[in-house]
Amino acid sequence: MPCFVTGHFFKYHFMKKHTLEIDYEVYDDISQLPAEDAVLLSAARKLTKQAYAPYSHFMVAAVAKMSNDEIVKGTNQENASYPVGICAERVLLGNAATLYPGVSIHSLAISYDSEDKNIKSDHPISPCGMCRQALLEYESRTLEPIRLILGGQSGKVYVLKTTSLLLPFAFTSEELK
Ligand code: THU
Repeated sequence: MPCFVTGHFFKYHFMKKHTLEIDYEVYDDISQLPAEDAVLLSAARKLTKQAYAPYSHFMVAAVAKMSNDEIVKGTNQENASYPVGICAERVLLGNAATLYPGVSIHSLAISYDSEDKNIKSDHPISPCGMCRQALLEYESRTLEPIRLILGGQSGKVYVLKTTSLLLPFAFTSEELK
């Protein structure tokens, strides 16, 4: 059968379609969350004040409950040389691995705020691509999933069972073996 676009013969009938779906929970607001999750998200909301974001004015904070019950935090740290800046999530991962080596992260809440009045913190944001890669590596090195709790200063909250849901077809250490 010729392909309509290239005019070439193309054995498209051998092609199999696969679909990926992800499950996540949606809560209308923080009051609907299980108490422990609400505590983490509320801490992340407050922690945005400690972000160092003089260039983007977009303050992100991450607060994790480790499996040893310790709390670890991170905020974005920007730099006059813009690419040097680090996201809140990766600041947190560095802190976690340094303070509690080998300990897995049970749950991680991420929130944000902005000094720009046109940017409303009323919906969840999710980790950037680089942070997804870093979160995934943390899951694999501690052999436990990281639950994500995503929410702005107000509004809906998303909960995901593992950060790996956010990075299908990920490049992992398996490829280097
Ligand atoms: N940022 C984070 O800290 N985490 C994310 O997942 C998205 C973006 C920071 C990076 C930069 O300092 C600012 O938000 C605007 O991109």
